[in-house]
Amino acid sequence: FVVNWDAEAAEKGGFEHFMLKEIYEQPKTIRDTLSCRMTADGKQVRFDELNWTPEDVRSIGKVLIIACGTAYHAGLLAKYFIEKLARIPVEVDIASEYRYRDPLTDSKTLSIIISQSGETIDTLAALKEAKRRGARSLAVTNVVGSSVSREADQVVYTWAGPEIAVASTKAYTTQLAALLLLAIYMGQLNGVLTTTAVTKLLQDLKKVPDQCEDIFSQVNTVKALAKAFTDHEDAFFIGRSMDYGLAMEGALKLKEISYIHAEAYAGGELKHGTLALIVPGIPVIALATQGDVEEKMISNIKEVKARDAYVIGIAKASDREVGKTVDVVLHVPDSDNFVVPILAVIPLQLLAYYAAVLKGNDVDKPRNLAKSVTVE
Ligand code: G6P
Repeated sequence: FVVNWDAEAAEKGGFEHFMLKEIYEQPKTIRDTLSCRMTADGKQVRFDELNWTPEDVRSIGKVLIIACGTAYHAGLLAKYFIEKLARIPVEVDIASEYRYRDPLTDSKTLSIIISQSGETIDTLAALKEAKRRGARSLAVTNVVGSSVSREADQVVYTWAGPEIAVASTKAYTTQLAALLLLAIYMGQLNGVLTTTAVTKLLQDLKKVPDQCEDIFSQVNTVKALAKAFTDHEDAFFIGRSMDYGLAMEGALKLKEISYIHAEAYAGGELKHGTLALIVPGIPVIALATQGDVEEKMISNIKEVKARDAYVIGIAKASDREVGKTVDVVLHVPDSDNFVVPILAVIPLQLLAYYAAVLKGNDVDKPRNLAKSVTVE
């Protein structure tokens, strides 16, 4: 009697790939990352692991965010979070660039190092460089005891659990959740945010895990849309404000696993180059979740539609405008502008996943890429 026991299949918990399993774990991992960091009444952010005073925040002259890959894309959004919610200037740098540019970092700098693995060699070296120049350091990482967590002065853990697929999904959304909480915490401590504003943001954040399920219920539509990519060698992602950062993450996901060339453009930059590449039928993902720039974004969508691009829009559920200009619209649940990116990235992860599956690629282990880059 022989039991055929496939350990890997068991670990995938019934999903075809680790990436899909990890996409579906996001309600839990986001909930875990949020839950221990809110007061019981849901009115305040608490970070017991930081325990900052108002003075600790007021003494920060500048925040410097350093990361690579997907973690860098989380950093791009964190710039909006911290600048808008705590009114502290933020610089975001790719670790391998920061190291070699003789940066203006000093003791008034708070460096925030984002790294899922905590082992990326460039990120670790950049952290050491920032410390050498006198910066305080805070690591946002997923691995307890990792090199980055040991090197940084303070650590905020994302509770994503082990991420196996090379393309990062649940680590990214937990990074966004942790960084948004951190920005609220800073704004709360330095007096920029009122208690009402904090409570409203936290109410919307708490809804995210359940709202992920709304997106999963549209999976068949997303799967069908993924076919739009496989006949093309190029795709474009456009967005403004925080949606531009998300566009970069959406393009990276598609490139990494489907091997389709994808470029992200800020909506307003289209006419400075990319419009020349828009040909009939080319897929364009237009992220339009940010109300304050929606009108401008809609004119950008019209620019690509006028060249017969095939446009998939991503908009909030209550939005009535985006659907009128695009070919298909995917709706994400209504949420605050700062919170909605955590939801809006999920359809992008699923689009990339199904495009890669349709192409027959090795989704969890894409060619030439590694999960953790520990050599230069
Ligand atoms: C590699 C991975 C990416 C990841 C990047 C940074 O390129 O394939 O998914 O975003 O490294 O990794 P880290 O562990 O520092 O977040």
